[in-house]
Amino acid sequence: MLFDTIATETTGRVALIRLDRPKALNALSDQLLTELGKALDAFEANDGIGAIVLTGSEKAFAAGADIKEMATKGFVDALNSDFAAKVDRVARCRKPVIAAVAGFALGGGCELAMACDFILAADTARFGQPEITLGIMPGMGGTQRLTRLVGRAKAMEMILTGRMIDAAEAERAGLVARVVPADKLLDEALAAAEKIADFSAPIVRLAKESVNQAEEMSLADGIRFERRVFYAMFATEDQKEGMAAFTEKRTPHFNHR
Ligand code: CAA
Repeated sequence: MLFDTIATETTGRVALIRLDRPKALNALSDQLLTELGKALDAFEANDGIGAIVLTGSEKAFAAGADIKEMATKGFVDALNSDFAAKVDRVARCRKPVIAAVAGFALGGGCELAMACDFILAADTARFGQPEITLGIMPGMGGTQRLTRLVGRAKAMEMILTGRMIDAAEAERAGLVARVVPADKLLDEALAAAEKIADFSAPIVRLAKESVNQAEEMSLADGIRFERRVFYAMFATEDQKEGMAAFTEKRTPHFNHR
């Protein structure tokens, strides 16, 4: 696939999407978000792909929504174009998406990373929601996802002051799954994606969906959802294969569709 603002490649069952607007620190222009959506559509429709890694450059995962594009927008333009909703495409992806974040993940960049299933951060990563300094607030999910991930106190402090946090603080706060040395970031993210892509694709899909229900449902409803899905897994060949392989001390061969 050929794009102007992102680059894509595949290795085995893993797709890599690299945000590629180096001169604008990967600011999320409308074109970039549209191209990202198209790449996700293609990888989601491809049974040969089991997991996706989304990354930026050494200096920036993404420094936010494109300020130059937004600067002259009026309320009605913003409302009608609904430009901030394009990030939702990432959260709607049914295949796992790992954000591999080095450098700045600010504003919409932080929100894009949070729309992924989990974030692996380089020790150089810096996260923040500096929108308040521009006379706006986060609009790509930040007030909701950051609050769920790091709790009200830290989310409120970050959103109201615009303070950036480094990778270590982000890990302590629960924003990122793991911090790794910058030169190992991509290898670690690709290795995690490869591992996921080797498991049963339908079971991975259901596990992801079940974890996501935790944000939408009460505990009792969520447990009921989990229990139903868990029991349904016993109707799959992959449950038989996974457990047989364990007892027979061999590698399981899972369904990748
Ligand atoms: N939009 C558009 N262009 C951006 C950008 C953005 N979000 N962030 C950086 N750039 C551009 C700069 O304008 C600059 O371009 P020029 O060379 O043409 O001037 C280029 O990228 C390099 O940036 P800097 O020279 O500023 O680099 P730096 O190393 O000195 O600073 C930085 C890095 C601290 C990240 C700084 O660029 C910065 O503060 N960027 C803006 C961060 C921000 O406010 N993000 C939130 C955007 S609003 C948002 O995201 C809303 C939402 O929730 C939907």
